Amino acid sequence: SLADIEKDPALLALARAKGKTVFGDNCAPCHGSGAPGAKGFPNLNDDDWLWGGTLDQIMQTIQFGARSGHAKTHEG
Ligand code: HEC
Repeated sequence: SLADIEKDPALLALARAKGKTVFGDNCAPCHGSGAPGAKGFPNLNDDDWLWGGTLDQIMQTIQFGARSGHAKTHEG
């Protein structure tokens, strides 16, 4: 779980390293390298969240998106 990863420094370091690669391959095309955002694509570095900034809320955003039609998607 996210809570278990957060509690274990070695696991957290591994998750961050792998996440950086995954982000570069899958997310940077829209959010930019380092996630500064661009017009129409939110900055993911600031603490200004459209859909909530806790780890659980961010995971929900990534898993189910916004207005995706899924029962757990964000609506608004
Ligand atoms: C095709 C372009 C595109 C890609 C690829 C993409 N995103 Fe996004 N992302 C967006 C847009 C556009 C929004 C704003 C959606 C909205 O609220 O209408 C967004 C929103 C988000 C948010 C919510 C930000 C907030 O303020 O709540 C997060 C978190 C996020 N993206 C993470 C990711 C991650 C992680 C990846 C890669 C796994 C990714 N995105 C890939 C376009 C993209």
